[in-house]
Amino acid sequence: RTGNNVKNEKGNAGELQQQAGGSHPVITTQQGLAISDNQNSLRSTPHGPTLLEDFVLREKITHFDHERIPERVVHARGTGAHGFFELTKSLSKYTTAKILTEKNVQTPVFCRFSTVAGGSGSIDTPRDVRGFAVKLYTQEGNWDLVGNNIPVFFIQDAMKFPDLVHAVKMEPDRGFPQAATAHDTFWDFISLMPESMHMIMWAMSDRAIPRSLRMIEGFGIHSFRLVNKEGVSTFVKFHWRPKIGLQSTIWDEAVKIAGADPDFHRRDFFEAIQNGDFPEWELGVQLFTEEEAATFPFDHLDSTKLIPEELVPLQIIGRMVLNRWPDSFFAETEQVAFCPANIVPGIDFSEDPLLQGRLFSYLDTQLIRLGGPNFTQIPINAPKCPFHNLQRDGHMQTQIYKGRTAYEPQSLEEDKPRASQKTGFHSASVHAEGVKSRIRADSFADHYSQARMFYRSQSEIEQAHLASALVFELSKVETEHVRLAVVSQLRTIDESLAKRVGDGLGLKSLPDAIAPAVPVQDLDLSPALRIIDRM
Ligand code: HEM
Repeated sequence: RTGNNVKNEKGNAGELQQQAGGSHPVITTQQGLAISDNQNSLRSTPHGPTLLEDFVLREKITHFDHERIPERVVHARGTGAHGFFELTKSLSKYTTAKILTEKNVQTPVFCRFSTVAGGSGSIDTPRDVRGFAVKLYTQEGNWDLVGNNIPVFFIQDAMKFPDLVHAVKMEPDRGFPQAATAHDTFWDFISLMPESMHMIMWAMSDRAIPRSLRMIEGFGIHSFRLVNKEGVSTFVKFHWRPKIGLQSTIWDEAVKIAGADPDFHRRDFFEAIQNGDFPEWELGVQLFTEEEAATFPFDHLDSTKLIPEELVPLQIIGRMVLNRWPDSFFAETEQVAFCPANIVPGIDFSEDPLLQGRLFSYLDTQLIRLGGPNFTQIPINAPKCPFHNLQRDGHMQTQIYKGRTAYEPQSLEEDKPRASQKTGFHSASVHAEGVKSRIRADSFADHYSQARMFYRSQSEIEQAHLASALVFELSKVETEHVRLAVVSQLRTIDESLAKRVGDGLGLKSLPDAIAPAVPVQDLDLSPALRIIDRM
């Protein structure tokens, strides 16, 4: 409003031209050249064709034409914020990682929440898993905890991930549905994938229609390792717990909100932060040894299983507060690149085959999504601790490499980086012995016991919601044998659930139950059973 509105020098009739002045700087080209007229292209005559010579027009349109980058292949729709993590209990007995041993230090974080199936322009409130990804800019490098709001996953092996995602995303011939699980290909895949049954119970529960992103839990899902200074490793699962508690919408609300405000969750998140009502989570860990894991009635390396807290209690060790909205949605929320392989000394991976595949996938996809090997230099991705390496050149290199040598060993330059046995990352020593094969361990064979445990742990109302969700979803499935195959799976989880869903779908009789590979167990979770308190 402080600019002067003038007619340009040629006196274009009726045009409002805003000119620099007051606090408005002069607009320039990318080369720094001041622009006199930002609205009219250069024409051979007032009625003639536009001239190719007009570099101001060409630059403006070219840059605009290149504004979009590929959206994430999954988790495309998201919203993020800055904040900090603060440790309240040290895990120095278990790990050397400073982020988990130095109390009361505020470590900066960037956190992005997402839906999984929909594209970047889809709605905030579909029935879907929510991504919960945290980048912690620690003194020892970036540590990314890339989790979801559900503690288990659909599949046991990363080999199946492209199939899962192709099944859930829009069908390739028709281009819909854009953000929903209620369609044939998703349920076809699920009905043929018994290991997904536990996750399906969670995904059909009210957890998948959260009221607010401030009210979701976050789970690292896989077992990771903590490694102490003696080199001894302890398994760990990470959980985020929302300070204001967990809350969901009910389905009718979620449907209504989707129409009234497709940005419901990101608006709520933005407004809370703008109002100083900062979202906060506690970080909890479950710690257990390899010997203890061997006694569990499931395999902790199987991502379709959780470790009941009755077996291994959750210990709260810190808190995360999100208190600053990004300046640029594109530069920060869109360009942030999380990767489960980003860890720090004192933390290591487990052999979970789903995690092992993820260690490859994220960097690989980001190389194309963010335009080549230097995306780690984008401010939101760069570490906040000193970093040095011998990498050079490549697309979008923004750092000016100094000196003659970019190799090692070398004897010409004193200031070049070298490896450090003392402070560098060491992989945990893990004993491995066996025959190379694609055989899955027998301990991964029980697909129904925890699905049953989850369903039976729900209150009556929650069970009713879960059954209604299944009826709604399956009523959108056109292919009869797919609907029946899902009901067969449900019978093996819980007869009363299958009956409810069968009735809802108008089935005259229920199809035979699926015969499980191993007997379904009713897990004994009495608190007295076993408590492993580590702190
Ligand atoms: C993206 C979580 C399994 C491949 C994401 C994001 C989250 C996430 C939260 C979004 C990150 C962001 O906000 O930018 C999980 C969890 C999994 C899982 C919790 C299972 C426990 C997998 C598997 C693969 C995979 C098995 C592949 C083998 C990807 C890819 C992206 C992604 C390619 C896009 C990354 C990007 O473009 O930056 N995942 N995911 N995920 N995930 Fe996963």
